[in-house]
Amino acid sequence: MPISVILLAAGKGTRMNSDLPKVLHPLAGVPLLAHALDAARSIEPERVVLVTGHGADAVAAAAEAIEPGILVATQARQLGTGHAVLQAEPALADFEGDVVVLYGDTPFIRPETLKHMLAARAGGAEVVVLGFDVGAGAGACYGRIACDGAGRPERIVEPGDPDHARLGAAPANSGVVVADRSVLFSLLGAVSPDNAKGEYYLTDIVGLARDRDLATAMISCPEAETLGVNSRADLAAAEATFQAAARQAAMENGVTLVDPATVWFAQDTVVGRDVVIEPNVYFAAGVTVESGALIHSFCHFADCHISRGAEVGPYARLRPGAEIAEDVKIGNFVEVKNAIIDEGAKVNHFSYIGDAHVGNRANVGAGTIVCNYDGVFKHRTEIGARAFIGSNSSLVAPVTIGRDAIVAAGSVITEDVPAEGLAIGRARQAVKAGLGLRIMQRLRAAKAARAAKAVKANA
Ligand code: UD1
Ligand code: MG
Repeated sequence: MPISVILLAAGKGTRMNSDLPKVLHPLAGVPLLAHALDAARSIEPERVVLVTGHGADAVAAAAEAIEPGILVATQARQLGTGHAVLQAEPALADFEGDVVVLYGDTPFIRPETLKHMLAARAGGAEVVVLGFDVGAGAGACYGRIACDGAGRPERIVEPGDPDHARLGAAPANSGVVVADRSVLFSLLGAVSPDNAKGEYYLTDIVGLARDRDLATAMISCPEAETLGVNSRADLAAAEATFQAAARQAAMENGVTLVDPATVWFAQDTVVGRDVVIEPNVYFAAGVTVESGALIHSFCHFADCHISRGAEVGPYARLRPGAEIAEDVKIGNFVEVKNAIIDEGAKVNHFSYIGDAHVGNRANVGAGTIVCNYDGVFKHRTEIGARAFIGSNSSLVAPVTIGRDAIVAAGSVITEDVPAEGLAIGRARQAVKAGLGLRIMQRLRAAKAARAAKAVKANA
């Protein structure tokens, strides 16, 4: 059966107290929204319709970047979850199949759970909801799923309804719904805003389905899966939950984390077997580390690739487009951006390598800076295989250093250096015999005279 997903993300997120729409706040290095989209992707939907409202343009642009081709429906006024789902109807008018409703601010729904719901739907239930148990007296903000003797949902009772308190022990409603497209929209057409909040409740479709003698079903999941982000504190708690799971998964996959609590992963971080990660390492989005690499302490990585056997850090920063080949060494206080560092090359100390290609087994000396930016444009630097760049050199791009060439320490290189050549670009040294000592004696005498004058003045 084909599947489509409707992702609700129109809400304001008032409690975030932010100018940024709630679903764009980052969790594990990517917008909150990306987590729900990841769950959506796992069930291979034919279409995904995002319902935007607050910050619609920014949310739609971010969603398109994450999920190219995503369909967007706008809910001009937030009249409730049922009304929000209805906004997706035109985008699904010619779709035949099951629709899954997800929330953009609920990041931890597992693919397995959605698959259980779809299986219940395939088994004949017209409307499938996802419930979870909360402790007695807790979860006052959730809708409650009232079930019949056979455990089938009869209706969902929202807070503010007189029956809500009476249903304290009933499963709480996560908000995730699975239903056939035409059944879903037909039921929503009958929802009225006749309730405490004056909103169109998506949850009313359960009671309406039962009124029409349509079968309903409930799948249960742990409360942690349905955790929604409403405040900055919720966001921090969600981050902690994510990181704990990511660290655990990394270790199970054969990664050594010397101090797990100090390593921060992004949603999409990939780390191979037998990688060792020392304390205090941060992965932003888009990073892959291949098997056997060694990551020393205090590194920051974003959108980069570290190959087998490479050794990076301590204190290295790999920025977008850093491509570190096998057995490369990137040492302390080295920054690499949009640059390929080929096999076995070494950039060991205090360097900036941007918009460049460093050939295999080249050695880039301490303090080498690639001057890639002229204030307006970026330019490229090419360093050939086995070239040796002496310490404290500036390579002013665009420039090419040929293979097997040497750049003398302290050079400012503004012209190409041919293969096998030597370039020296620095002022010639002069030596004045005896002058060092004479200057030192003069300075010491001046200091003594000053001290004597001060003693006399204080007398
Ligand atoms: C909803 C459910 C409740 C459930 C709870 C779980 C309803 C009526 N109630 O309540 O049973 O226990 O979620 O967290 O569905 N949204 C829109 N447009 C709107 C309103 C909401 O897009 O007009 C989006 C929000 O951005 C959010 C989601 O829908 O992502 C849920 O809305 P929210 O207001 O948080 O619903 P709850 O009152 O928490
Ligand atoms: Mg809510």
